[in-house]
Amino acid sequence: MATLTPLYTANPTSDPAEIKALLATLGIEFETWALPARAQELASQSRLGDAEKAELLTLFQEKLHEKAATAGYRSADVVAIRPDLPGVDEALAKFDKVHFHDDDEVRAIVGGEGVFGVVGDDGRQVLLTLRAGEYISLPAGIWHWFYCLDSKNVTALRLFKDNPSWVARYRGVDRGVRPNAS
Ligand SMILES: [Fe+2]
Repeated sequence: MATLTPLYTANPTSDPAEIKALLATLGIEFETWALPARAQELASQSRLGDAEKAELLTLFQEKLHEKAATAGYRSADVVAIRPDLPGVDEALAKFDKVHFHDDDEVRAIVGGEGVFGVVGDDGRQVLLTLRAGEYISLPAGIWHWFYCLDSKNVTALRLFKDNPSWVARYRGVDRGVRPNAS
């Protein structure tokens, strides 16, 4: 079950309805998806080959068709982060700094867990821990970051529109001039 921690209060919540409502104020869509037993089984593997990834996508075909029709996410693939994957820390380091993309970032977690941090337009921040059976759609342009917990174990579907641009644009380029900066 997801946990949402608004960093400007002392009141984290694990109530899906509350999470959905608060995230909606940030323009973020949050859903819970039914998780077939076979999907959980596949997500528990230490490695997923092409055949297993294709099977996972098939298991969620109905939801994927729905998202293609309602949100234009016509393509999907599977990403499986594991602690012993070569280069995993370097790969994760691209996402753990505040950034945005020109396209939506859409994930459905099938196994493991990961944390999204989001910065609202007013600068207030929330942390959202997502677990298996949870879906999120972050709109293009929203400041966010992502990190894994110590297990570094996440299996997720990535949904996207045609030719997405997920090049991370990091904060810092527009921080302005600091007082007394020489
Ligand atoms: Fe991102």
